[in-house]
Amino acid sequence: MKIAVVGPGAMGYLIAALLKTKAKEDVWLVDKRAERAKKLNDRGIFVEGSSGEFTAKVNVVSEAKEAGVCDLAVICVKSYSTEDACKDIKEMVGPKTSVLTLQNGVGNIQILNDHFGQERLIAGVTNHGATFLGVGRVRHAGKGDTVIGNADGKVLGMIRDVANILTKAGLETKISKDIQSVIWSKLVINVGINALTAVMRLHNGKLIEYPGTRELLRGAVHEAVKVTKRKRIRLNYDDPVQKVESVCKATAGNISSMLQDVLARKRTEIDFINGAIVRQGKALGIPTPVNEALTNLVKTIESSYEEAVKLPC
Ligand code: PAF
Repeated sequence: MKIAVVGPGAMGYLIAALLKTKAKEDVWLVDKRAERAKKLNDRGIFVEGSSGEFTAKVNVVSEAKEAGVCDLAVICVKSYSTEDACKDIKEMVGPKTSVLTLQNGVGNIQILNDHFGQERLIAGVTNHGATFLGVGRVRHAGKGDTVIGNADGKVLGMIRDVANILTKAGLETKISKDIQSVIWSKLVINVGINALTAVMRLHNGKLIEYPGTRELLRGAVHEAVKVTKRKRIRLNYDDPVQKVESVCKATAGNISSMLQDVLARKRTEIDFINGAIVRQGKALGIPTPVNEALTNLVKTIESSYEEAVKLPC
């Protein structure tokens, strides 16, 4: 299958490298920055961690037209870049191309839907950890499951093919007929972990070791659960706080994706995670003070990187 991986971040690198090396697919990575795309083309993508050590030589292009129409486009950009990515990859998406999103947060499906239509859209989540180590270098920081499906619950042939290819690549993938439930179940986990790790600059596992962060994690999760209940979205676990805390344990050494962004002084996905709970809460008349505070803190961190205080030495 000819597969475009859109987004040269940690997850984009990992998926592109695994699809090429383990599943032996024809992979085209899109990196808008031409200079970096050239470097990646020459050097390949170096992977270390849970999948072993290897270098994958994938085709890297800075413009979609260099690759042409693909069978599948995997969207791996940060949620705030989804709109731009849709415009950038137009030449890769033909009448038979499927578009897969495994991004964090909520809101991406709607954007992809508006651009490409629901019939070709495959949505999902992945619980694999990926840490960006530098240009062309990624650590597979931990294995988890991947679940995909489409919005109307139909299991089409293409969804099965994509699940098989991802599984062959080492990203064991299941199919769900209730993808909203899958996405919101992951969202609640991200709501509990991401912003708190970014504000506190702690590994995931540390959040449950301190009473203060543990209480805030629980508060953020309780608010998110109230929103999901009012929206009649079913979560795929019975005890959300226990689930989030178990993910903290299972990914104890992870630097969450939001903390990676903050450490790299980049924009974060806060608007699509805790910010989404605040917006939905407002629309439904549900107070979300913990998520509001976390959103305000992360947004302030994002806008004040240059002003962060350092000790005069
Ligand atoms: O965004 C992340 O970092 C991950 O989704 C998770 C599950 C919080 C693990 O680090």
